[in-house]
Amino acid sequence: MKTYFVTGGNRGIGLGLSREILKAGNQLIVTCRNPKGERDLWELEGDYHEKIKILEMDVSDDMSIQKVFASLGIDQVIDTLINNAGVFEQFGEKLADIDFEKMSRTLLINSMGPMKVLQQALPFLKKSSEPKVFQITSEMGSIANNTSGGSYAYRASKAALNMMTKCVAVENPNMTAVVLHPGWVQTSMGGSNAPVTVDESAHGLFELTMKLDVKDSGRFFNFKGEERPW
Ligand SMILES: NC(=O)c1ccc[n+]([C@@H]2O[C@H](COP(=O)([O-])OP(=O)(O)OC[C@H]3O[C@@H](n4cnc5c(N)ncnc54)[C@H](OP(=O)(O)O)[C@@H]3O)[C@@H](O)[C@H]2O)c1
Repeated sequence: MKTYFVTGGNRGIGLGLSREILKAGNQLIVTCRNPKGERDLWELEGDYHEKIKILEMDVSDDMSIQKVFASLGIDQVIDTLINNAGVFEQFGEKLADIDFEKMSRTLLINSMGPMKVLQQALPFLKKSSEPKVFQITSEMGSIANNTSGGSYAYRASKAALNMMTKCVAVENPNMTAVVLHPGWVQTSMGGSNAPVTVDESAHGLFELTMKLDVKDSGRFFNFKGEERPW
């Protein structure tokens, strides 16, 4: 049994991951912006109330992140952090259409948010015998695979997250730090035409959180466990 920490666990891939984690008998600290309104999460709480802690956190708000970690007990261990929360605010924008306010917000949530969460989680991860951090990235953040261009803000936000995660892997040889592409998934972000269901993606991602270890640190995989180009 491991203790997982998941951001953006109220819907989409984050909710799917939360279900997988609990179904397998683990402990879960799950965060979202508005816990009170999240019926799906409270249903999980009803089924697994001994195993789940639901906390309010907005990854764009420093105080909100600090408050969550300050509320954890001194003996709290986090074995596996999954930074899942993310936004895709402007789709397909070309150079002339870049909205820099949206870009700034996207970088704040998708790139800096996960790093702020990881920075605060570090003392709790260091108490684990096998600490792991998984950053939910996107193939759209791959520079090598960018053949269609556009979506400057989202692509850049995930490329920055990829680079910072590689730095974490280099700096912390005893911690597994990996970026994971969840597939093109049927969520409000991915849309109904996406070929991968939330359950398929979440199951694949969860299996990888168990399978991957320090020898895989600093690498980029998709939800099927296939290595992807940076
Ligand atoms: N779906 C895909 O095809 C796809 C493909 C590649 C990568 N991804 C990545 O997968 C992750 C999950 O995406 P998804 O498809 O599940 O998207 P989603 O259904 O739109 O869910 C996004 C999640 O992020 C949360 N979130 C957004 N801004 C936040 C903030 N400031 N603080 C805390 N939580 C915040 C949302 O919370 P609220 O409910 O409060 O808004 C929600 O829980 C993202 O990192 C995304 O970039 C998705």
